[in-house]
Amino acid sequence: MRKPIIAGNWKMYKTRDEAIEFMYQVSEALPSNKLVDSVICAQAPMMRCLIKRQGDNLRIGAQNLCAEDEGAYTGEISGKLLDSYNVEYVIIGHSERRNYFGETDEIVNAKIKAALRNDLLPIVCIGEHLEERENGTTNKVLEKQIKGAFKDMSAVQMENMVIAYEPIWAIGTGKTATAEQAEESCAFVRSVVRELFGDVIADGIRIQYGGSVKPANIDEIIAKENIDGALIGGASLDPEKFIYMVKAAVKK
Ligand code: 13P
Repeated sequence: MRKPIIAGNWKMYKTRDEAIEFMYQVSEALPSNKLVDSVICAQAPMMRCLIKRQGDNLRIGAQNLCAEDEGAYTGEISGKLLDSYNVEYVIIGHSERRNYFGETDEIVNAKIKAALRNDLLPIVCIGEHLEERENGTTNKVLEKQIKGAFKDMSAVQMENMVIAYEPIWAIGTGKTATAEQAEESCAFVRSVVRELFGDVIADGIRIQYGGSVKPANIDEIIAKENIDGALIGGASLDPEKFIYMVKAAVKK
C-alpha cells in the first residue's frame, strides 16, 4: 500500500567526479520508480550535476534549505532555487543539523513550510539521544519533535510528508537499533501522526528508519510493518550497496 522509499544521505561526502561515477554506475541498475522511490540527497552545489544524470528511476534531494525563499541570508540555500533545478526532496531537521547548527523544532517547522511552498517533498528527521533511550523518554522526545515539526500543518500538507526515525546513537556508529526497536519506535511515530491527523494520513505516511543501515541488515528492517524505507548515510555512498538496498525494499 505504501511505496517504499530508500534515500541516501551523502552528508558532506563526494566530489563532483565521484558523484558522476556513482550516477554512471546506478542509473541503469535501479528498479522502476513504480515499485520504489530511490533518492540521493547530496550537497547543494552537486544538484545540477546529479539532475542531469538522474535517469528515470532516481530522484534527487537536498540536505537542507532556508526557511526564507530569498533575501539577504548569505550562505543559505533557497527552496525556490532548489525547485528551479527540479530537485524533488529535501531532508529537514537531521540530527546533525539540530546538534551542530542549532536547529530547533520551530526552525524545522518553518523549513518544512518553506519546502512545501516550493513543491519540495520534505524528509523530516526525528530521533532520540542515547541518554534519552536509556532513561525511557524516547517516546516523549519523539512526540515533542513530531508536534513541533508539524505544528499548524493541514492533513493535505501531510499527504506527501516522509518521516525518518533516526536514533542518534545509531548514526554512523555501526550500532543499529534492532529491527524490533526500530519497528516499535516507527509504530509509535505513526500512532502520534494518527492522533494528530487521523487514519488516512497515518496509514499513508511513509516512515523510514535510519542509523547504520547496510546491506547486511536492510532485509530485516524493511520487513517490519511500520517501516517503509530507510535513510542511509555511509552505505549509500557505495553504488553497489545502494542498488542492493533499493532492491531489498522492492521485495517488501
Ligand atoms: P549512517 O547510515 O551512516 O549511520 O547515517 C545515518 C544517517 O544519518 C542518515 O541520515
